[in-house]
Amino acid sequence: VTARRIDGNAIAGEIRREVKEGAERLRREHGITPGLATVLVGLNPASALYVSMKRKACAEAGIASFPHELPAAASQAEILALVRRLGADAAVHGILVQLPLPPGIDERAVLDAVPLSKDVDGFHPLNIGALAMKGREPEFIPCTPNGVIELLLRTKTPVDGAHAVVLGRSNIVGMPVSLLLLQRNATVTVCHSRTRDLASITRQADILVAAIGRPRFVTRDMIRPGATVIDVGVNTIPDPARASGKRTVGDVDFEAAIEVAGAITPVPGGVGPMTIAMLLTNTLRSAGR
Ligand SMILES: NC(=O)c1ccc[n+]([C@@H]2O[C@H](COP(=O)([O-])OP(=O)(O)OC[C@H]3O[C@@H](n4cnc5c(N)ncnc54)[C@H](OP(=O)(O)O)[C@@H]3O)[C@@H](O)[C@H]2O)c1
Repeated sequence: VTARRIDGNAIAGEIRREVKEGAERLRREHGITPGLATVLVGLNPASALYVSMKRKACAEAGIASFPHELPAAASQAEILALVRRLGADAAVHGILVQLPLPPGIDERAVLDAVPLSKDVDGFHPLNIGALAMKGREPEFIPCTPNGVIELLLRTKTPVDGAHAVVLGRSNIVGMPVSLLLLQRNATVTVCHSRTRDLASITRQADILVAAIGRPRFVTRDMIRPGATVIDVGVNTIPDPARASGKRTVGDVDFEAAIEVAGAITPVPGGVGPMTIAMLLTNTLRSAGR
């Protein structure tokens, strides 16, 4: 028996269609077109690719995008001035600063300049703080963590009462995923680089979320038979068989894991497309307010 393969592209497609309907309704009933501004600094090819994918997804969903590109040599003051200008622009409902910023730029200062009401990435400390508190609602839920939850919900994976083990505790993935799972009444164990005897913990997981950035780190023996495995990792490894000489793999050894898991997300085609879908969702939500 092999696991069910969770099709992130299909589920993200469903969400993108829902966003498109929502954007059409907003335009029809209120004359508002949701708008997302993207800020790209420098010539990082991966960042440029991510931004172009996000803009394409916006166009398909009826969201206006306002691309801004600054040279790698842009000063912190210039970047801050741009972000502040976008913050004051009524046509812009969401601001996405593509990370990483070039060396020498204070990333925190730039992100802090994004108004909370337009922080569609959901990285603002007040957003994360609200996530951690009972009875509070964050302005926006960070996209990748929200994508993980949405995959679980839309595949009808039981979360309430399940033991969820999260590998990784970063601000952008591990920690918010853990908080969201807790909100949904999972029993959550968060593992990190200092965790002792990791495999004995991951083997208890009904839901295993891997977000550590180590290629194929999670092996077959670390997975409980029948578990749902969500692989957030995006890692490039050499592959001489390919023209590019490399390929993308997750944090989970997919070929081995699929033999023991109950359901599993592939990389690519799992969590990745969900991140973009949730960015569109957040932008629509912001415009709706
Ligand atoms: N699909 C998407 O859209 C998307 C979005 C964002 C990120 N990602 C991917 O997700 C992965 C994680 O990203 P990130 O930004 O969260 O990474 P990160 O900031 O580098 O954090 C990695 C986390 O994993 C832990 N860790 C590292 N090695 C470990 C080990 N051997 N055993 C146990 N824990 C270990 C670290 O522990 P310590 O805290 O102790 O250092 C840290 O908490 C990356 O591959 C990234 O590319 C994908």
